[in-house]
Amino acid sequence: MPVNVIILAAGQGTRMNSDLPKVLHPLAGAPLLVHAMKSGLALSPGRLIVVVGTGAEAVARAARDFWPETVTALQEETRGTGHAVLAAAQALEGAEGDALVLYGDTPFVTPETLGRMLEARARADIVVLGFESRPEERYGRLVTRGDQLERIVEWADADAPTRAIALHNSGVVMADAATMLRLLARARPDNAGGEIYLTDIVELGRAEGLSATVVRCTEDETIGVNSREHLARAEEMFQTRARAALLADGVTLKAPGQVILAHDTVIGRDALIEGPCVFGPGVTVESGAHVRPFCHLEGCHISRGASVGPFARLRPGAELAEHVHVGNFVEVKNAIVAEGAKINHLTYVGDADVGERTNIGAGTITANYDGVFKHRTVIGADAFIGSNTVLVAPVRVGDGAMTATGSVVNRDVPAGAMAIARARQEVKEGFATRFFANLRARKAAQKKG
Ligand code: UD1
Ligand code: MG
Repeated sequence: MPVNVIILAAGQGTRMNSDLPKVLHPLAGAPLLVHAMKSGLALSPGRLIVVVGTGAEAVARAARDFWPETVTALQEETRGTGHAVLAAAQALEGAEGDALVLYGDTPFVTPETLGRMLEARARADIVVLGFESRPEERYGRLVTRGDQLERIVEWADADAPTRAIALHNSGVVMADAATMLRLLARARPDNAGGEIYLTDIVELGRAEGLSATVVRCTEDETIGVNSREHLARAEEMFQTRARAALLADGVTLKAPGQVILAHDTVIGRDALIEGPCVFGPGVTVESGAHVRPFCHLEGCHISRGASVGPFARLRPGAELAEHVHVGNFVEVKNAIVAEGAKINHLTYVGDADVGERTNIGAGTITANYDGVFKHRTVIGADAFIGSNTVLVAPVRVGDGAMTATGSVVNRDVPAGAMAIARARQEVKEGFATRFFANLRARKAAQKKG
């Protein structure tokens, strides 16, 4: 029977000192919440419920943007983790099987660990994910006897011997959904925080004769983000792991410490990332592609044999086919660049199609925006766009056509034709010599006077 995943994402996160709800702070190019959702989705859940509160609308939107089938539940006041799970009761109605509770501020729980929790459910009614940590950490403490988990005590409520327990609560809990709700209905806010604690289900369940057990993971997996410092640390942990994974997959990173990756970056074997680069979300780089230093890439695809940079910017919708060259100070946005095309210097190509083997000269601009609407530029195969051409969209340049250097092209250019749109040159013999002689004479006269 599929598990139902509940992600708690209603908290304030006051220590973030931010107008943005805590769970929307980006980690590796995606909101913290999305990382937690990815963990939960690995179990192919029956329902994925996100409990929202602070910034409810924005959090719900982010959740549905990532996973349209997300069910959201509103927790009107943040009165504790148990209260938050109770807020999901309606969303759980009619759902059979287990509920797994994850936190929206805890991004690194792995599918493998959740799999071990599922297995542990075969031998216990309640399964809690725990980890060993340092005594000064203020996590909840897991009080065990043999294999049994007896109760969870929040740090603020714990006496000295309980605080000395090294086994801490990650917050991740799994139990039959109906049982969890039934136990929570009996939880009382009689604690230091004055909150309804999810963690109380262990003691309440044990009193009924239910069994509870702990599955362990490393602290790295359960790091929760409560401050900017935590967020920075989480980012660093993510980057370190993602770089190591790419190296293991056969990608060459010349400056691994200066390559910033996103949660969904895909880079093929034998691709070369030659120096510092930033990968925003949605980038795929095929095997054997070459990214030179100082590129900023986002929402784009780079095919086998293509090369990009140095100092190039690929924005969402940039699709480079095989053996395309994009050189320095070039920006490409929402454009399909066909095989073998070259855009080598100082150019903006936006909302465009560029045909096979076409050469775009230095300083070319697709003027795609009229202040209100965006328009497309379509350039055929084997075309030659002269340096410093402005292509005023919507406009089409046919196969094998060319534009003369310095042209402003606002009418279609048929296949095989040449468009020239610039003032005709005049040459005035001796003009420069006379002009400068005159100026120098004036300067000399000023000095004397
Ligand atoms: C919780 C656990 C603690 C554990 C720690 C691990 C409880 C009572 N305590 O404490 O044992 O060691 O996590 O990180 O469960 N949230 C809501 N609504 C609320 C309160 C919280 O949605 O009313 C959400 C928050 O957005 C957050 C998550 O629940 O994503 C955890 O809340 P937080 O306040 O961070 O709990 P901790 O004090 O860290
Ligand atoms: Mg927390």
